[in-house]
Amino acid sequence: MKIGVLGTGTVGAAVATKLVEIGHEVRMGARDSGNEKARRWTSGAGRGASQGTFADAASFGDIVFNCTLGTASLDALRAAGAENLRGKVLVDVSNPLDFSKGMPPVLSTLQGDSQGESIQRAFPEVRVVKTLNTVNAQVMGHPERTGGDSDLFLCGNDAEAKSRIRKLLAEMGWKSVIDLGDIRGSRGMEAYLLLWLTLWGALGTADFNVRIIRAGDGLVSASRPALG
Ligand SMILES: NC(=O)c1ccc[n+]([C@@H]2O[C@H](COP(=O)([O-])OP(=O)(O)OC[C@H]3O[C@@H](n4cnc5c(N)ncnc54)[C@H](OP(=O)(O)O)[C@@H]3O)[C@@H](O)[C@H]2O)c1
Repeated sequence: MKIGVLGTGTVGAAVATKLVEIGHEVRMGARDSGNEKARRWTSGAGRGASQGTFADAASFGDIVFNCTLGTASLDALRAAGAENLRGKVLVDVSNPLDFSKGMPPVLSTLQGDSQGESIQRAFPEVRVVKTLNTVNAQVMGHPERTGGDSDLFLCGNDAEAKSRIRKLLAEMGWKSVIDLGDIRGSRGMEAYLLLWLTLWGALGTADFNVRIIRAGDGLVSASRPALG
């Protein structure tokens, strides 16, 4: 599959590297076609890797990942061009974190809204699927780094788009992906970052994730001694 990755940071590089490793053709996009980080990634990632502008990457991909700075994602997507994104699945990995007043950051979105929804509203002909934003960049393509099975979340308005991304996530190593429903699920997925950041500080590592357990899953009873 041809995949566009918008973003040259740690997330863009981690996602793009994994996608090339599992056999996809990936074009990394930046504001400038000669972006140095994209150049380094392209020369290191080998066959299947290429680079260009945001618009080049968006027009190249059958699926496009948004791995740009959360507070600049709408600008980056406008640069990618609605015409290059029309009808495509856009995987939104971004988090709307505002660090302008220092740590801890605040969400830059308004209450009752989210980045995923803003992107879907701004690009109504794009099928936005929010996922991967709740784990560290290095964990995205290597879920085993957390030391055991854990859960990823996904949401979006288009069932077929979610099903395609679920398959891609399985190729990337994710065994459990919980569908949170329509794109409004982004609100909780993005707000979770406030907890993620404090957990990061408390645990001293970014190699962690959550695992959801429910009554009936057998996980709780299996770890408890039998009564009597
Ligand atoms: N770091 C993590 O582990 C992690 C985990 C989960 C989610 N996320 C989210 O993933 C996204 C990417 O994170 P990151 O740490 O890899 O990189 P980042 O530094 O947040 O973003 C880098 C990308 O944003 C673009 N960008 C920056 N300012 C821009 C502007 N004014 N207009 C247009 N584009 C602009 C850059 O373009 P150029 O290439 O042209 O410089 C670059 O491609 C963020 O939204 C972050 O919250 C991060």
